[in-house]
Amino acid sequence: MQYAWFFYFCTMSTKGAIGVFDSGYGGLTVLKEIAAKLPQYDYLYLGDNARAPYGPRSFDTVYNYTKECVQWFFDKGCPLVILACNTASAKALRSIQQKDLEQMAPGKRVLGVIRPTSEKIGELTKTKQVGILGTKGTVQSGSYLIEIEKFSPEVKVYQEACPMWVPLIENNEYSNEGADFFIKKHLNNILAHSNEIDTLLLACTHYPLLKEKIEQFLPKHITLLSQGDIVATSLADYLNRHPEIEENCTKNATVQFFTTDSADDFNEKAAIFYGQSVNASHVDI
Ligand code: DGL
Repeated sequence: MQYAWFFYFCTMSTKGAIGVFDSGYGGLTVLKEIAAKLPQYDYLYLGDNARAPYGPRSFDTVYNYTKECVQWFFDKGCPLVILACNTASAKALRSIQQKDLEQMAPGKRVLGVIRPTSEKIGELTKTKQVGILGTKGTVQSGSYLIEIEKFSPEVKVYQEACPMWVPLIENNEYSNEGADFFIKKHLNNILAHSNEIDTLLLACTHYPLLKEKIEQFLPKHITLLSQGDIVATSLADYLNRHPEIEENCTKNATVQFFTTDSADDFNEKAAIFYGQSVNASHVDI
């Protein structure tokens, strides 16, 4: 019992960097915006590249992988972890928050990207019809339908899984002609639901790399939305409202990168997502 209390107070009072997690590189598009908006904090980024992509994997697998990675952040002292991955947010976040957190690290927090985006999208659509483009896992989970309904029940939500988009990006084929076929295919599918859709959400943190290409094929009246800025604004607001978490976030303006796969490969590709070169270290999870 005494040990339990000792453990409780130790985990309560740990100070550390804000953890940012994705299955691979996609979360770097979110970290870039977060670090630009809140440069004073320290950040640890972990890409579970060895086990990516998460998109086609089962609920149990994504949950177990994500939980292991969240534990890694807690072991590194992070008081707050952002799942900068829609698939992990859809398939693992709720269980971790409701079932595991109390045992893993009371006083620490894990947040996702689906809720802040769902909160915002209702304000941005004029026609009240939006499209969600995501991985198979995110779409199948129905998380966006559930979350948007909570904040904006008047908004009609259409979804489209784009299973080839992450592989095209990860294999650096996304700006080539071959990618056009898959981009047009999924845009046509989602827009076929209704000609009233005025907002399309890139509900996968990899997809901002396709933004330029998608815009070439998208009718001009449709707004294409990425999540990075929305998540960064929401995090700033969260830290303001939760001083008990904020005061445990260290502030030396550092960013460190980790990958479960080859650090050299990570460094080579990460710059495309992060906008500047990085120097990652390998970790075994
Ligand atoms: N970046 C992840 C997301 O936002 C998906 C990538 C993957 O399939 O692993 O959903």
